[in-house]
Amino acid sequence: MSTAPARVDAHAKVTGALRYGADRAPHGLAHAAYAVATVAKGRIVRVHTEAAVSIPGVHLVLTRVDAAELRSAGFIWSGGYGFQSLQPLLDDRIAYRGQPIALVVADTLVAATEAARLVTADYTGGEPPTVAIDGPGVEIVGQEQAVPMPMFADTVAGDADTALAAAPVKVDVEVYGPNQHQVPMELIGAVVQWHGDTLVVHESTQNSSALQHGMAHQLGIDPGRVQVISPSVGGGFGQKNSVQPHLGPLAVAARRLGRPVKLVLTRPQTFHQASFRPMSRQRVRLGADASGRLVAAVHEIDQQTSRYDLFPAFYTEVSARLYGIGDFRGRQRQVRTDTQTPGYMRAPFEHMSVFAMETAVDELAHATGQDPVALRLANDTATDPVTGLPFSSRHVAECLERGAARFGWAERKPQPRSHYADGDLVGWGVAIGAYPADLAPAIAKLSATAAGTIVVAVAGHEMGQGIRTAITRLVTDDLGVPAAAVELDLGDTRRAPQHLTAGSWGTATALPAVAAGLAELRARLGLPAAGPVDLRAAVAATGAPRVDVEATTIPPGQPPDIAVERLRTGLPALAGPEYPGFVAFSYIAHFAEVRVELATGRVRVPQVVSVADCGRVASPVTAASQVRGGVVWGIGATLRERSVAEPRYGGFLNATLEEYPIAVNADVHDIDVDFIDEPDPLLNPVGVKGLGEVAFVGVAPAIGNALFHATGVRFRRLPIRIEDVLTHL
Ligand code: MOS
Repeated sequence: MSTAPARVDAHAKVTGALRYGADRAPHGLAHAAYAVATVAKGRIVRVHTEAAVSIPGVHLVLTRVDAAELRSAGFIWSGGYGFQSLQPLLDDRIAYRGQPIALVVADTLVAATEAARLVTADYTGGEPPTVAIDGPGVEIVGQEQAVPMPMFADTVAGDADTALAAAPVKVDVEVYGPNQHQVPMELIGAVVQWHGDTLVVHESTQNSSALQHGMAHQLGIDPGRVQVISPSVGGGFGQKNSVQPHLGPLAVAARRLGRPVKLVLTRPQTFHQASFRPMSRQRVRLGADASGRLVAAVHEIDQQTSRYDLFPAFYTEVSARLYGIGDFRGRQRQVRTDTQTPGYMRAPFEHMSVFAMETAVDELAHATGQDPVALRLANDTATDPVTGLPFSSRHVAECLERGAARFGWAERKPQPRSHYADGDLVGWGVAIGAYPADLAPAIAKLSATAAGTIVVAVAGHEMGQGIRTAITRLVTDDLGVPAAAVELDLGDTRRAPQHLTAGSWGTATALPAVAAGLAELRARLGLPAAGPVDLRAAVAATGAPRVDVEATTIPPGQPPDIAVERLRTGLPALAGPEYPGFVAFSYIAHFAEVRVELATGRVRVPQVVSVADCGRVASPVTAASQVRGGVVWGIGATLRERSVAEPRYGGFLNATLEEYPIAVNADVHDIDVDFIDEPDPLLNPVGVKGLGEVAFVGVAPAIGNALFHATGVRFRRLPIRIEDVLTHL
């Protein structure tokens, strides 16, 4: 049993002692606020700043930055570092409503905010924007044609169209996914400060090294002169995965004023200055034999992007692997609209991809008279149908069987709209989820001191998911030292290169590097390869005050030189889910009960059972919390969340937590979480896959399928709200 606390940062969090990115007030701090565009499309003719500069305490109103002083950070998925390629304040083009037109800096936040409100602009253009994928004026491009690189190609196996045409049973399902925003509790913000010619950036980010190298690129300075410090992030969910456009102008303002400058975006601004979940339209056609055995699938997706970046889509990477379907064809298209560039938001592709697939599979079960669990078990596979390679580990069947037993699935009556309780319609639904088990290279630096402590620096950003706890547990379990002896340096570019922490690869990336560092440390100190150690005595015996070791881990099949070079320069260096000789995914099965109030159409979710296969469970309490969080978010994503884009004037209308409804306590009831907890034998020596995002994948179809069982009605457009349900009762 581990001696480490269940959550190492719990006390600091609940006492308010933990410091997040912008929670710093260096001497002389100035405060910044944004003025934003009130049109969605056009060009700036003139920005009026006279009223703003007359506010007492205002020192700078930045409306245009010269290209010699600032460049775009570039788009993270085309060789750059930013969430989008468009850098506001560099030219006169307005591409979306809410785009910054000025950065105001003042002695106080009140003065900056008031002055920013007084900034106005004259614009040309003004033609109506297109904000929806089915709106007029969209431009549709095939991803495979637009980005001719293997990783962006459509997923194809066999000849799906021929097999589909010949299949005796077919289902054809179209579903729609809405715009959603990540709304992490901590807003987006930074404190930037020049110390001589070195720029220090305090910003909560999932990608400190990208900020380091991106800022250096933007400012034309050596990356060694940028330090990014992000030890704790108050929720990222993909929104904080790259350089935000405020950082460049903040650095310019701080340099011109010779003062540290702080900017925290308001909640409505986070809906427009950062990424969001793009709209998508997804059609799934399944072909099966009379027993429900799947023989073919065609999955076609149109996904929203901005006018100026292509946000690469990976929907079919997962839908092709849910079942053993020999003939599969995917097709992904990008639909250009007048918004900022969308991006990664928790299971960015897998959530909607699996909603489409698992809705179709449920329809197939209904059409063939099969039990939905039995049909899924019959279509399971140990071999990846796309590559023909084995899966490194795959416990889908165990997830389904254990979940069914915990839920009491055997009691389910198959007929839809046949079960009532307390006057409500009751429905039970099931769905599985999968998420690629990707990995990044990592460098771990460990220092053992004569005081008996150990300092560990490694790539990893703590976003509340529990990576500090997982690493601490690994160290304490390995060395037998108390948790208090372990100090972690995470998210800090001064300590170790910081790869993007996202895509649920954080723990599976950091732990093997730390484990390799511990083995190296034992070797250096002449300690046995395993078992508790007396660290103090071992370091003292060397005669030195501290012993430093470093270990580098490279994902299977990655060329080490390229991997380390990309890691050191803040670029994504990912491997997976296809590795030499195997394919790796994490899996989950969700079982949901819904109750539908006949008079009002209100949907409640009294019970969810979720059983996950994430390889070895490195930190039981934080892992269970990840799954619970995924289910809670899934309830919100299915029944509540939608960002409403304004079709005439652009921008998102409900850009506050009052009007963007997320699941709250009253929406959440029993969530029963269990793990298979079988180490993956191939992915890495620690045996961990990933967990955060797979937990969310499949919640929406489990609820949607339960709603079909309750009502006999298929709901294909998310979110499914009272008004949608009531008209069908
Ligand atoms: Mo996540 S959406 O990969 O931070």
